[in-house]
Amino acid sequence: MAIRNIRTNGDEVLRKQCKNVKEITPRTIKLIKDMAETMYEADGVGLAAPQVGILQRIFVIDVYDDEGLRVFINPEILEVSSSQIGEEGCLSVPGESFEVERANYVKVKAFNEKGQEFILEATELLARAILHENDHLNGKLFIDYVK
Ligand code: NI
Repeated sequence: MAIRNIRTNGDEVLRKQCKNVKEITPRTIKLIKDMAETMYEADGVGLAAPQVGILQRIFVIDVYDDEGLRVFINPEILEVSSSQIGEEGCLSVPGESFEVERANYVKVKAFNEKGQEFILEATELLARAILHENDHLNGKLFIDYVK
């Protein structure tokens, strides 16, 4: 495993649309392990592939619950509802945090690193993290919501 360089706001890679993963290869697994290690080293709760310069639809999240590390490959947001307002930050926007309004409930479908499809229903912090990381796959940053 290796720590990868986290791209920061202003780097154009963060503004690109990511592509679906067609096949989970040993390279994909290596990328996911590196992303997790990079996230933990930076004390983050989530990291998306474009943040380490890779334009693939992958993100990892760990909200420090019983589940531990969660891997999302080719995620699709199926449903959102309700709303929450909370303080948000991003490893690509170091030192900044703002209140952002997000859905308080999200239903997401994705594949894990074993290629197994799953559907997850999340609320509160996990819902926020999923929506934040999913935005990264579409070239969007949380600061875009701040007026
Ligand atoms: Ni972020």
